[in-house]
Amino acid sequence: MPDTGRVLEIGCGTGQATLPLAERGLDVVCVELGADLAAFTRRKLAAFPNVRIVNERFESWEPDGEFDAVVSFTAFHWIDPEVRFAKTSRILRRGGALAVVEPHTVLNDDPFWTEVQEDYDAVVPSPENRPPLRAEEIGDLIDEIDASGVLRNVAVRRHRWDVRYTADEYIALIATYSPNLDRDEETRERLFERIHRRVAKQESMLTTYLATLNVATTLV
Ligand SMILES: C[S@@+](CC[C@H](N)C(=O)[O-])C[C@H]1O[C@@H](n2cnc3c(N)ncnc32)[C@H](O)[C@@H]1O
Repeated sequence: MPDTGRVLEIGCGTGQATLPLAERGLDVVCVELGADLAAFTRRKLAAFPNVRIVNERFESWEPDGEFDAVVSFTAFHWIDPEVRFAKTSRILRRGGALAVVEPHTVLNDDPFWTEVQEDYDAVVPSPENRPPLRAEEIGDLIDEIDASGVLRNVAVRRHRWDVRYTADEYIALIATYSPNLDRDEETRERLFERIHRRVAKQESMLTTYLATLNVATTLV
């Protein structure tokens, strides 16, 4: 990546990754679907003339030239599978790279993860209620990238880390998850009250995250 390279970020959200890219002096274009998120990040990065935030869907956005890299953090899975690799390969310069990072919560030894299913089953019963997958069960994008016929996978990295949360911290975290945002207030409160009680009883709970990074490059 040249020091002054041009980067496209797909789905920058609040610009958590955009800021360090901007600080490196890279020329960054972010394509962000959410109007409020785009406005927020535009304000947040207003001091960086090398950053431009575009409020559009990646699938329909018209690029204005080529990029040295296309990056996406926790957003690539939202992009239409028919478009994501084809369009990326069109906007990358020859030899340019795509980097996709996807984080996952994975199962660890804390009994919380199996026991909390009781709370979900009591308040929001669904056959989909289940503990998180084990790290070994989380796949990568190698097959999908290679099957695209336009990019080839060159690297996969997996990084695991633990975070311990108190009951208040854990509820504040899961309150930001979209399935919980979609619940009606009364259901959410009943669910959170049970989960809060469960975490408080064991003082804290342990969350293990796994971030996968896939790097791909153009075929020629
Ligand atoms: C989970 S957030 C991740 C935000 C940020 N990259 C981060 O890691 O904090 C996913 C982001 O992708 C955006 N997004 C989803 N579909 C999109 C699309 N088709 N085109 C552009 N952005 C999209 C969402 O609006 C959201 O900001």
